[in-house]
This record gives sequence, structure tokens and C-alpha cells, in this order.
Amino acid sequence: MKISVIGCGYLGAVHAASMAELGHEVVGVDVDAAKVESLQRGAPPFHEPGFGELLGRTLASGRLTFSTDFADAAGSRVHFVCVGTPQKRGEYAADLRYVEAATEALLPVLASGDLVVGKSTVPVGTAARLAEMVEGKVPGALLAWNPEFLREGFAVQDTLHPDRLVYGLPAGADGDTARALLDEVYAQIVERGTPKVESDYATAEMVKTAANSFLATKISFINAMAELCEATGADVKLLADAIGYDDRIGRKFLNAGLGFGGGCLPKDIRAFMARAGELGADQALTFLKEVDNINMRRRIRMVELAREVCDGSLLGKRVAVLGAAFKPDSDDIRDSPALNVAAQLQLQGAVVRVTDPAAVENSRRQWPHLDYADSPEEAAEQADAVLVLTEWRQYRELDPQEFGKVVRSRRMLDGRNALDRDLWEAAGWTYRALGRRAT
Ligand code: UGA
Repeated sequence: MKISVIGCGYLGAVHAASMAELGHEVVGVDVDAAKVESLQRGAPPFHEPGFGELLGRTLASGRLTFSTDFADAAGSRVHFVCVGTPQKRGEYAADLRYVEAATEALLPVLASGDLVVGKSTVPVGTAARLAEMVEGKVPGALLAWNPEFLREGFAVQDTLHPDRLVYGLPAGADGDTARALLDEVYAQIVERGTPKVESDYATAEMVKTAANSFLATKISFINAMAELCEATGADVKLLADAIGYDDRIGRKFLNAGLGFGGGCLPKDIRAFMARAGELGADQALTFLKEVDNINMRRRIRMVELAREVCDGSLLGKRVAVLGAAFKPDSDDIRDSPALNVAAQLQLQGAVVRVTDPAAVENSRRQWPHLDYADSPEEAAEQADAVLVLTEWRQYRELDPQEFGKVVRSRRMLDGRNALDRDLWEAAGWTYRALGRRAT
């Protein structure tokens, strides 16, 4: 099938290459000429494991091209809208201008029988509005909502092997037409028996925001327990293990630490609250405000813990920050808890050096006043304290003995509860972590 993918960020670029991998003929369209040039050359503009290989393979097959010209989307039967919906400046609500612009730009190239498929995360009610726009302007063209659940760091795997497909469909015979087209696009995934949920637009839109809100709540729940553990001397890691054995609860997303960041969870819970307010149902989501508060408090607590460990003052102390990306296996620094803490430490007088295996370049661009290093050893040279704020494998596997030789004081603050405490303590380090008492 001929397919266009509008918007070539994490979501769109991976989706475009994955659709080509499934055998379709795909054009990825983006207004950013530099991004399009880089993708067309086979050079991923972001760090995503496995994506470089997939991109190279699908470009070489001749089934995948990229363009800055919307006219190149003409002739495609299905058009995926994969543009961003960031938080509005100074407001909680989502900024829909890119979704609206992309849909509008598609109108002149749409033909009767084409299907526009929204994948962006949008406030409930958006799809119905866009469907009116599409059907009003291009008789016979339809719209479906098909939210995406990919995680950065696992984007390729999540796109080609999703754990479910959600189709938000128009009513009646149009719904059957849209379903048939989506089934054809995802034929290999559907045949594998992947669970499929078909619904109206509003449910499909809400599935995405509800899923991200649940995940955010789960993380903030365990981080609230971490606060209590700090007050009582209990251990949040053991607590998470113990409650996680109950498979109604589950151990996944119960890692206490610095909390959630990134381009999705924080802005999605806020946009969800804003939308609930507009709908007169704000009470239903007031708990998300607390989820957000708990999450932000962890960053402040991390800075306090660093001060405590540095004998009560950060002034002039050399602090190494290992990790800048919002999570490992990503170079994404949007709302990164690690960089937020690094900046606060610097503002309080510490001499901060940040390192990350993939995100230094992005960080330097956005936080030019911080000091950066190429390796953990370089960052930690003569350090008074080391903070692991993103749990990259490289940091989890550091040798505490060897690493101890570069620092001034062996003080380790594990912001992600990711290190083997016994190993570090055996090597003479003072080990501190969120939600766990000092030895
Ligand atoms: C999230 C969702 O997990 C995806 O399902 C969704 O498709 C995506 O948003 C999206 O809306 O596009 P992502 O932002 O890539 O994916 O990252 P997550 O793996 O969810 O991690 C989010 C944050 O939570 C990270 O900062 C991570 O360090 C933190 N986290 C995660 C914890 O603090 N504890 C945990 O136990 C798990």
C-alpha cells in the first residue's frame, strides 16, 4: 500500500520506516529540511537503538523516501499524522497547532477513499473536529484515530510488535471502510493475533492519555512510598519488590527514584487535566495534580540529599552528574529530571560536570551554562560527590574500586536505585538513594 507519514520525529520517523519494513511504499513528510535530509541519507537525527539499521535497510529497499513537500503525499491511500502536541507555553493544555496544520496541509492532496489516521496524543474531542474538516473538504475521505504506545529506547520493537492495536473509527459503513484499510496496513501484526480494540474516536483518544496517566500515577505512587520510607527508615526498593510480586500490582514501573520526565508523561497528564476542566469534569483528575507534585518533589529532595552528603553545603563542591537524558537509551532531554537537578545544584553553588553516553550534544545546546564531560571518569575527577541520575547500563556497570580512584570523596547518590548498594559500600563508598536509609 502507498502510505504517507506526516511528521518525522521519534514517532513519525520510526513509524515510516516500520511501515516500509512491513512491505508498504512510504513517504515521510516533515517541514524540517535538515531532518528530512538526514533521514534520506540514512542518518537518524536522534538516538534510538535499532533505528539506524531499520532506516538503512528500508531506504535501500527503495520503499522509503522522505520529503519536505506535502505534494509527495498525493497518491497515498493512508496518511498517518505523527506530529507533536507539546504543552502550551504558560498553560497546561496541549498545543494542537501542528496537528491542525498537518491535517490542513493534507487536504489538497487527499482523494476520495483516502484515510487520514491520527497517531499524535491529543485531547479528547480533537478527532471528531478533524474528521469534520477532512470529510467536509474532501467528500469520500475518512479519518481514524490510532494512538501509538511506543516507548523511546524500544520504539522499533514497540512499533513492529505492539501489545495492542486501538482503532478509533467513524460510525457505520465508514467505520468498516476505515477498519479494512487499517487491517491491510497492519496485516502482519493483526495476523499474529495482536489484541485489537475498536471504538469511537473519543475512547481511542482517551486510551492513550489514560494509559500515560496510569503509568505516571504508578511511578508517583512508589515515589510517595519513598517519601514515607525516608521518614520511617524503611526501604522502598524492597517494598516495591514485595508488592510487585502480587500480579495485580506488578513490579514494572515501580522503580522509585527521580521520577518521570520526557516529552510525554509530564505534558500528557497536564493536558488531560486541562481538558477535563474544559469538559466540566476537573474533579475526576485532581489526583493527577498530586501525581505531578510528588514527581517534582523528588527533584528537590535529590538536591537536598546532595547537600546533606556534602556536609551541609554545596558551595564550591565538585559534583559529577552521570546521565542527562530523561531515561537511558535515549538522547531526549525534554523535561529531563537529571538536567533539572544538575541546574539546581549549580545554582546553589556546586561545580557541576554532567556526562551522558548520548545526550551531551543536545544538553549543551539547551543548557549551555552547565559544564560537560565525555566520560564518567572525566566528570568525576576530584569530585566530592557523584550522582547517577539516568540509569544507563554503562553507569550500572561501573567498577566502584576503579571509579573510586578518580574522585576526591567516595560519595555515591543513586537517583534511580540502579546500583548494587553492597558492592559500592564494600568499596568504601558512602551510598545514598531516594527512599532508602543511610547505612
Ligand atoms: C511513555 C509511555 O511509556 C509510552 O507507552 C508512550 O507511548 C509514550 O510515553 C508516549 O506517550 O509517546 P516514554 O516517554 O518513552 O514512554 O518513557 P517511559 O518509559 O514511560 O518513561 C518515562 C519516565 O518515567 C522516564 O523519565 C523514566 O525514567 C521514568 N520512570 C519509568 C520511573 O521513574 N520509574 C519507573 O519505574 C519507570
